[in-house]
Amino acid sequence: MSALLRVACGELDARSCGLEIQLCGWVNSSRDHGGLLFIDVRDALGITQTVFDPGAAPAAAQTAATLRSEDVVAVSGTVRRRPPGTENKKLATGEIEVAAAALEVLNRSLTPPFPVHSAAEIDEALRLKYRYIDLRRPHMQRNLQLRHRAVKAVRDYLDSERFLEIETPLLIKQTPEGARDFIVPSRLHAGQFYALPQSPQLFKQLLMVSGFARYFQIARCLRDEDARADRQPEFTQIDLEMAFAQQQDVIAVTEGLLRSMFAGSLGVDVKTPFPRLSHRDALLRYGSDKPDLRFGLDLLDFSAAFAGTPFRVFTAALERGQQIVGFCDPGGASRSRREFDALGTAAAELGAQGLVWIALAADGVRSPLPKAALSAALLDEIRRLTAARTGDALFLLADEPGKVRDLAGRLRLHVAQTQNLRDPASFAFCWVLDFPLFERLDNGRLGPMHHPFTAPATGQEALEGDALALRAQHYDVVLNGAELGSGSIRIHDPALQRKIFARLGYSDAQIDERFGFLLEALSYGAPPHGGIALGVDRIIQLMIGAPSIREVIAFPKNQRFQDLMIQAPSAVAPEVLAELQLKLSPAAQAAASGGDK
Ligand code: AMO
Repeated sequence: MSALLRVACGELDARSCGLEIQLCGWVNSSRDHGGLLFIDVRDALGITQTVFDPGAAPAAAQTAATLRSEDVVAVSGTVRRRPPGTENKKLATGEIEVAAAALEVLNRSLTPPFPVHSAAEIDEALRLKYRYIDLRRPHMQRNLQLRHRAVKAVRDYLDSERFLEIETPLLIKQTPEGARDFIVPSRLHAGQFYALPQSPQLFKQLLMVSGFARYFQIARCLRDEDARADRQPEFTQIDLEMAFAQQQDVIAVTEGLLRSMFAGSLGVDVKTPFPRLSHRDALLRYGSDKPDLRFGLDLLDFSAAFAGTPFRVFTAALERGQQIVGFCDPGGASRSRREFDALGTAAAELGAQGLVWIALAADGVRSPLPKAALSAALLDEIRRLTAARTGDALFLLADEPGKVRDLAGRLRLHVAQTQNLRDPASFAFCWVLDFPLFERLDNGRLGPMHHPFTAPATGQEALEGDALALRAQHYDVVLNGAELGSGSIRIHDPALQRKIFARLGYSDAQIDERFGFLLEALSYGAPPHGGIALGVDRIIQLMIGAPSIREVIAFPKNQRFQDLMIQAPSAVAPEVLAELQLKLSPAAQAAASGGDK
């Protein structure tokens, strides 16, 4: 490469004309126009057209004729204006081109498995196998640039708020965060294992005991989760903790942080404070603890309105203790019968036993309900309840109290989706507060709603009465119907922490074995403290409206949590197992040698 002025491909514009420069990058495309060769050179910042004229630079033009997509080149030449009429308005560098004087081929490329410059949809398995090529594509470069800027804005903001970035270990003991741990065998201590952290939870609490007032970390978390579309087994959190903090302090810092993040990367001005809802209200109004507030369609209870109506399905449901819940869709009466039926099918797919709709059309009320069931009194009551007007539609479901809210909540999202009310470019944040402290697990036992280090609501420290009615100082921040982050004020009193473990069914011996170090630390002057962790991958995904979390992670796992590029997980050599003193079961051995694909 020569000593000429090195510039990036996206850096040149009309002001650069006359400069003698050198560009290094990849051959994006090449065209031969009547002897002149046009080679578009691409790097991380953009694309520049270079022109090879056999008359002016015969050696360079001869080499240029051998170039193929993705070859790596250094082109030297002079920047000049493109001839009038040949400018490309779509390119930032579209006004200029480089008249090439010399060309150095720095490396050749095989034919790539898919074109880098094409916007065509490419099979994701192929993209993941050749991720290093996929990442060359401009939209992937942009995604990771945005991610960088967003995380930098977080670091700058937290630094200005006097947070200290401190790393915590990856080889630890278990932290209960609701998923399984990845386990790492110890060679030096045969038969013993480390766990990889599901989050830095206990270490950040210990840092508060150590006297660090404000901690943060852009932390990798590892969870042996069941594979789900919006999850990864390893992901990144903005993890923070504050000493002497109350809920409102953590909320204020988080809002400032999200404001900085959106302004610093997307240029979007996020309005704070975010709306706040109690967990109970979120379930009542939206059937979800992560409500999408980009649109209305709030849920309402129609049970009282339908009590005693001649529509047997509803009255029988009410007699069985079920509820009738639904919502009003403003302007929704203009749907055709077929569109209403399609929503009925969608409701059935969600698990509803049936969907009743009532269209308050200008030319009369339409509904699959028998005429007799829709008395004027009932319609008046419905109008009063919902403030529905002519032109609106109502959707109603009957089921068990908890289930009907969940179904109606999911139907609400479906209707919003079909009406294009879920605009990915609009950002509706909210806080969900006052979560229950405990929940009933599938195995019948009591589990923590967040994690066992979360403090009960003020005044409920005695844990008296119905355990499921106890509330926690636990808060979630939600964006467009997705949980961005979760946090809580922690327990700093060792006696209360022990009591919570006991309520969760741990014996004294188990508590001491698993959490003895924590209880001991809390006994040496632990300050009151609290914090939160935000999922970075999820935030960036929502920022750009990407269809999957994998679009914003450089090297993600596929939906079966495999890395298709390096082929992980994979079997290890018998010597490795022997050194660790581990033996595979015959079934695992068979699966491993069969290459469990
Ligand atoms: P929690 O488990 O709720 O809390 O995680 C916080 C946030 O991390 C993100 N997240 C994930 N993102 C991608 N893939 C996953 N598998 C995944 N799991 C979680 C979500 C979630 O809201 N220690 C506590 C926080 C605290 O109390 O301070 C914790 O980890 O966006």
